[in-house]
Amino acid sequence: MDWTSFHDLTDIEGFEEWLNFTVSDLVQVASVARTLEGREVRILRIADPSTPGPKKKIWIEGGIHAREWISPAVTTYLMHQVAVSPEWRDILKVTEWYFVPVANPDGYAYSFSSPRARLWRKNRSKNGPSARCKGVDLNRNWNLKWGVGASGNPCSETFKGKEPFSEPETVGLGRAMQRVGDIDVFITFHSFGQTVLYPWGWTRDPPANVKQLSRLAKKFNEGVKAASGGRTEYEIGGSGPLYGLASGASDDWAYGALQVPFSYTIELPDTGSYGFLLPESEVSKVVVETNSGVNCMIGFLTNLGPCARNNRSKFLGFRG
Ligand code: ARG
Ligand code: ZN
Repeated sequence: MDWTSFHDLTDIEGFEEWLNFTVSDLVQVASVARTLEGREVRILRIADPSTPGPKKKIWIEGGIHAREWISPAVTTYLMHQVAVSPEWRDILKVTEWYFVPVANPDGYAYSFSSPRARLWRKNRSKNGPSARCKGVDLNRNWNLKWGVGASGNPCSETFKGKEPFSEPETVGLGRAMQRVGDIDVFITFHSFGQTVLYPWGWTRDPPANVKQLSRLAKKFNEGVKAASGGRTEYEIGGSGPLYGLASGASDDWAYGALQVPFSYTIELPDTGSYGFLLPESEVSKVVVETNSGVNCMIGFLTNLGPCARNNRSKFLGFRG
């Protein structure tokens, strides 16, 4: 595994097993769903069993959209850093993590299968015995205000499915999130746009704790800016107002159905020049910056590290 190129599902699964084997005291792997094509949807729990709870619970989802290859790259990098990097050691004493590197394994594998499949977004659901068009948009299939800003046409890129939670991937992930319970922070990584989006996606009305949501989103930006020497900046806002109404997404479900107080969709780089086809030469930079952004967010929340509230932050320099 490396973060100088994109990796297919086989590589990512091998990396998960390697991490589980080499950092076995901290890492557990579980399969939470089986896809139509027989693949596992896996989650990795990372926690330090030698430190007592209760701990803040953080859920990181990657790869729900197949073609957004930078998302599994960022998720696997962050997972590795949280497990092994000294930068995360103190925070890991008071947090427990759930990583989903590839929420849509069938779609992800398909997008690697041929150049004409590269821009596939959905899963590979059959949509009935005779349907011409395959795939459900897994980020329109969750059961919160299902249907708004999503398509009923199986041939559409944003097909919502025949009913909410019609797909094994969303059912398995939703159940696993419910089982974990009391999640404090939910982040799903997408591309592209360089934006931090908070709920709601189904309405333009602001959510109840919009001030706190926006404050923590700014910490992500602060960490990114620090790691990029001030070169990379994210725009912050509600997903409805910034991206247009779209319901049935995992962020709204986490926020509205599970009451996760901090729920975000982070649209990774770039801002559109390459779009979904981000060059491999950008991967290492994006993963490092994103790790720093999440570190600042969670450090702020746990009051540890460079973004701790009581800290005259190392990052202050970048705010002049
Ligand atoms: N690009 C993402 C999508 O289309 C944005 C999701 C934002 N969240 C939302 N609830 N609409 O799925
Ligand atoms: Zn996406």
